Amino acid sequence: MADTRTAKLTFDGKEIDLPILSPSEGPDVLDIRKLYAQGDVFTYDPGFTSTAACDSTITFIDGEEGVLLHRGYPIDQLAGQSHYLEVCYLLLYGTLPNAAELEEFETTITHHTMLHEQMGNFFRGFRRDAHPMAVMVGVVGAMSAFYHDSTDISDPRQREIASHRLIAKMPTIAAWAYKYTIGQPFVYPRNDLDYASNFLRMCFAVPAEEYHVDPILARAMDRIFTLHADHEQNASTSTVRLASSSGANPFACIAAGIACLWGPAHGGANQACLEMLKEIGTPDRIPEYIARAKDKNDPFRLMGFGHRVYKNFDPRATVMKQSADEVLDLLGVENNPILATAKELEQAALADPYFSEKKLFPNVDFYSGIILEAMGFPTSMFTPIFALSRTVGWISQWKEQLEDPQMKIGRPRQLYLGETARDYTEIEDR
Ligand code: SDX
Repeated sequence: MADTRTAKLTFDGKEIDLPILSPSEGPDVLDIRKLYAQGDVFTYDPGFTSTAACDSTITFIDGEEGVLLHRGYPIDQLAGQSHYLEVCYLLLYGTLPNAAELEEFETTITHHTMLHEQMGNFFRGFRRDAHPMAVMVGVVGAMSAFYHDSTDISDPRQREIASHRLIAKMPTIAAWAYKYTIGQPFVYPRNDLDYASNFLRMCFAVPAEEYHVDPILARAMDRIFTLHADHEQNASTSTVRLASSSGANPFACIAAGIACLWGPAHGGANQACLEMLKEIGTPDRIPEYIARAKDKNDPFRLMGFGHRVYKNFDPRATVMKQSADEVLDLLGVENNPILATAKELEQAALADPYFSEKKLFPNVDFYSGIILEAMGFPTSMFTPIFALSRTVGWISQWKEQLEDPQMKIGRPRQLYLGETARDYTEIEDR
């Protein structure tokens, strides 16, 4: 990673050599760790558009080329040929499992899907109309109070058990959060079902009748999980890393990641996108919304468009679009008016210089909501499904950071523009 090249920084009579670090993929990195000590200056980069906060071997993104690799494997190959639990193994351990390793991993995950029975009471403390994300943040944080035997982050085995518990239990938590808000009884996981089928059954089964999972919908669900599994140092992953740097337990760190993902600029965009498409309604209203998105005085943005990193296309959106067509065709709703509006909106935006010049293209959230709605999920469940999927990415990055001997607490500095020192004045003198 480090080589002999340096960048020379010259200012105020100072000359500072900054080592240049070479990646296996992507841009070079200027190592500024000694800059403050040597130059008595900070760098300034709100939003971290030009800042590498860590090194990692998990996921690589090339925003210009629309490349997304997990441990070197392209996302379209993983989405087409692998399945979510195998991708979980890959993200966690760095290599694709052989048959025995995969069977052991899937058996372990399957046997961790149940929640401590007392946790059911925790759900019942929420109002019935609580947003499922509010429930997930609360319940995942509360796991710290139920699984004490996997909170010692210095113990590799406890770190692994916590990772398995989180991956295994997130579908149960998300499904129960949904069931609670619609007043239906919780459905327990079944060990004879695969990961995606288990989730669909826990969401849509009722005690009054048998529920049969459609294998094509299960495959589409599994693919959505895979497409959202990890994504380099996005806002919620960076939140998990920062929380973990203080030594917080894994459940608290993942709860922090869920809270960050909830925002409409991040994981909340899939819900916001579908609500936007419904508000637009018919294709004839698309020009009005395109104009609003371009209007600097209007805070409206096209939800599901744009990305901090992808500046040509989001490779996940490409796969998701194919999946949308398959699922809607299967469900006999290929004439879904929302999908029709989405496709017309995509074409209109891509043809508009404002969007092409600003490199604003459909992202992963643009089509996922259409699939999820067609599968029967309410919009309030879109981000919980994103959180479920991203748990493996968060916990893999959490694990990688804890295994890094150079890890230290994250503590950014600032450009202070406030008052300089001044004396306190008594109230009668103000
Ligand atoms: C995810 O980081 C990740 O990897 C995230 C994610 C993951 O897997 O973890 O990929 C998941 O969060 C996908 C993004 C989902 N969010 C949305 O779809 C919400 C709508 N998108 C925007 O909020 C925005 O595009 C962001 C937040 C995604 C990216 O914002 P940036 O990179 O900070 O860009 P910016 O806000 O500086 O915008 C650049 C310009 C601005 O115009 P100018 O001030 O330069 O004139 O583009 C405009 C913005 O006004 N712009 C948009 C727009 N997004 C940016 N204009 C209209 N509609 C939009 N969607």
